[in-house]
Amino acid sequence: TASGDWWRDAVIYQVYVRSFADSDGDGVGDLRGVRERLPHLARLGVDAVWLTPFYVSPQADGGYDVADYRAVDPLFGDLADADDLVRAAHALGLRVIVDVVPNHTSDQHPWFRAALAGEPGARERYHFHPGRGAAGAQPPNDWESVFGGPAWSRTPDGQWYLHLFAPEQPDLNWEHPEVAEEFASVLRFWLDLGIDGFRVDVAHGMVKAPGLPDLGHGAQATLIGTQPLPFFDQDGVHEIHRSWRRLLDSYEGPRIGVAEAWAPSSERLALYVRPDELHQAFNFRFLKCPWDAEGMRTVIDESLAATTSVGAPTTWVLSNHDVVRHVTRYGGGARGLARARAAALLMLALPGSAYVYQGEELGLPEVLDLPDAARKDPAFLRSAGQDGLRDGCRVPIPWSGAQPPYGFGPGGSWLPQPAGWDGLSVAAQTGDPHSTLELYRAALELRRALPGLGAPEAGWAQTAGEAGSEDGAPGPTGMRWLPAPEGVLLFTRPGFACTFNTRPTPVELPAPGRPVLSSAPVETDGRTVLLPPD
Ligand code: GLC
Repeated sequence: TASGDWWRDAVIYQVYVRSFADSDGDGVGDLRGVRERLPHLARLGVDAVWLTPFYVSPQADGGYDVADYRAVDPLFGDLADADDLVRAAHALGLRVIVDVVPNHTSDQHPWFRAALAGEPGARERYHFHPGRGAAGAQPPNDWESVFGGPAWSRTPDGQWYLHLFAPEQPDLNWEHPEVAEEFASVLRFWLDLGIDGFRVDVAHGMVKAPGLPDLGHGAQATLIGTQPLPFFDQDGVHEIHRSWRRLLDSYEGPRIGVAEAWAPSSERLALYVRPDELHQAFNFRFLKCPWDAEGMRTVIDESLAATTSVGAPTTWVLSNHDVVRHVTRYGGGARGLARARAAALLMLALPGSAYVYQGEELGLPEVLDLPDAARKDPAFLRSAGQDGLRDGCRVPIPWSGAQPPYGFGPGGSWLPQPAGWDGLSVAAQTGDPHSTLELYRAALELRRALPGLGAPEAGWAQTAGEAGSEDGAPGPTGMRWLPAPEGVLLFTRPGFACTFNTRPTPVELPAPGRPVLSSAPVETDGRTVLLPPD
């Protein structure tokens, strides 16, 4: 891909900074740790790195509660470390994307402190309202927080403020001109430092429906849902994104924006990637899709059709820091791993851009038995009795060695790592041709070598219909489905075919050609191939 379009088929590696590599022994990963481990990412063959928030924060939500958007939290280093990291990444040919969290600040942000202190006008930057009922003792409306409980908290003087997430994350009022001005300046700050783009947190949430109407049915704010909600996916967010796109385009680049937007449909999601908006939006549909060939095919078809119709590449995501790791979602153990390996090759054979979450290249499973006392996820801490969903995928990376912390750092690790992860470490997997790490490396090498792999084909800008019909011509993404037995997907991309067997048993197919890469050994006599299970 021409460098101006690097993002269209980029493989972007998500670094969850606190769990990647710890350089100073406090058990928390840091920017220097990331810099020292960049060679791993360069060898892996990804195009870019996305760093989760490393800004000054009380860490009520893993740094997604920012108290100073222009400074590095001492836990993670300082600005000089950020600068060194960006330069070192660029020297290795890796681009750097950083998180920006515009929907809410920390309750320790100077603006919110001023609001609580009653400074004139300061509450207007947030959503402060009187309560309902006798003495205003009831919240202003019936919205619930994504992390459980009411989306409102009361201040000592009796007013209520809105927080779609934890009480320590008050929502900003984007109608206020100073909010937009401040974020434009924050974006400039990091762009001037040389970063290549932003991952926009809760990009669908910044604008709320006028009057903050009740849901009326006690429904809870769910990130993954299909019903329209008055606090998510309001049309007004697009105006903000358009202004950000203009700002990004004013820099030499391209500098890109990727929206974390949970839209109720692929069509609504496509609106976020119109040509004058952000470049990409995460396509989370695989996260909700079970191990099922028909379901996966539907996800692929609908995802490609929706974004291709506006000229944007689709993105593919199998895991991130908010969901159960896909080895475990697909059943865990040897079978879950076999499926995760197959899914990785499927994802990397599809047109568009792919996101790899740290540790998935090692085949890490979800850690399911973390002691409650170790958990930090506000989603767990606020909904006692329910499963904490987001700590088990955030356990620090095993790099080397026979026991915890497996080379994560000189000290311990902020979440305990399981016994038995020595075999999954980067060092243990390097050079082992059967390892998941070498599978990812080989796939990413192929992606570079075969121009058809991942590459968006001619016609991106054309209006698309289908991703390609069963026996018709390839669709605008250069992809064509071929007939296949039940439980099997078979499609062509320019120069190769991809077959994917979801069955628990082997399947024999006419050989579409010479096998170039497979997630498990494939037997072939030149005329047929025997696809292994999963
Ligand atoms: C996004 C982040 C998640 C965070 C939430 C609130 O969904 O991915 O980790 O808790 O936003 O900022």
